[in-house]
Amino acid sequence: MGARPPTANRLGNVLQTVPPSVLPQANDACWCGSGRKYKRCHKPLEGRVLQGEVSPMRSVPDHIVKPPYAATGEAPRWAEPRVKTPDIIERMRVAGAMAAEILRLAGEMVRPGITTDEIDVFVHEATIERGAYPSPLNYHGYPKSVCTSVNEVICHGIPDSRALQDGDIVNLDVTCYVGGVHGDTNATFFVGEVDPVSRNLVKVTEECMWKGIEAVVPGRPLSDIGRAIENHAKAHKLGVVRAFIGHGIGEQFHTDIQVLHYYDERASMIMRPGMTFTVEPMITLGSWQHRMVFDDDWTAVTADGKRTAQFEHTLLVTDDGVDVLTAPGAVSPTAPWAR
Ligand code: MF3
Ligand code: CO
Ligand code: CO
Repeated sequence: MGARPPTANRLGNVLQTVPPSVLPQANDACWCGSGRKYKRCHKPLEGRVLQGEVSPMRSVPDHIVKPPYAATGEAPRWAEPRVKTPDIIERMRVAGAMAAEILRLAGEMVRPGITTDEIDVFVHEATIERGAYPSPLNYHGYPKSVCTSVNEVICHGIPDSRALQDGDIVNLDVTCYVGGVHGDTNATFFVGEVDPVSRNLVKVTEECMWKGIEAVVPGRPLSDIGRAIENHAKAHKLGVVRAFIGHGIGEQFHTDIQVLHYYDERASMIMRPGMTFTVEPMITLGSWQHRMVFDDDWTAVTADGKRTAQFEHTLLVTDDGVDVLTAPGAVSPTAPWAR
């Protein structure tokens, strides 16, 4: 992990974001520049995921068709029809299958010692090779081409110089923009030998996603999805993150359809054939409360530092159920109980 320039927090204190290799004694001033004793400041972060160095933003060749935010980092929003045309749906199948394939290949790279930046390079190149744009890149200013969320990081982790460690779990979230539409999918992978409690968390999280997908039925309210997910998580004494939700998707990365992963009767929008949205539950070992850490304004971690896992598919509501647009070639192509 290289040195990073110190940054200031909101109070103007100069903060060092990467700890030195020799940590202070408990009563010494903390390394981060907060002015507090080490034991009252960063000691509780020992064993937690710490930020590495983020490499410069990568470029995308001119021949790749880019989404409107690629140049500016600002995503214009417009009223996109919730029910898609057959033509859009066919293009979303292409984008979905591409994202699924790249996610599976990126997952095969996961091993102790590889950095999340190396995984980002792979996803970036693999996406461009296939003639697509990596949707996360510069979306609302996001600096990388994939999200890599390790252990207690809930989502939107930024790839950096941190090497994955034996026993970590890591979520990779891949989205491709091709043919004018997005396909969005993610999965959580094991790094080397992972403890049984974390393995169970990942297994139940994948099941939660499939319970949610099976609740996609035309004529039913979106709240059915959250109910199915929450019931399964609760049965395993696991928490459901509320701060991040599934979303409508199509020509825009995120549209106005909101898919809660917990039950709320106000989620009364009726699912109609032709609607496209994601189901992407984030499930926790402890509290579902989140907080932002790091100075990047992206990385969300659990409030108690316990681990969290996530799986995601992009879905199409059909006349009699659901079609998983990110299933072809996927890490998790069907529900475990249907395999
Ligand atoms: N792929 C994420 C999702 O599932 C969104 C990532 S936005 C980014 O909605 F800017 F962080 F890339
Ligand atoms: Co999504
Ligand atoms: Co995603």
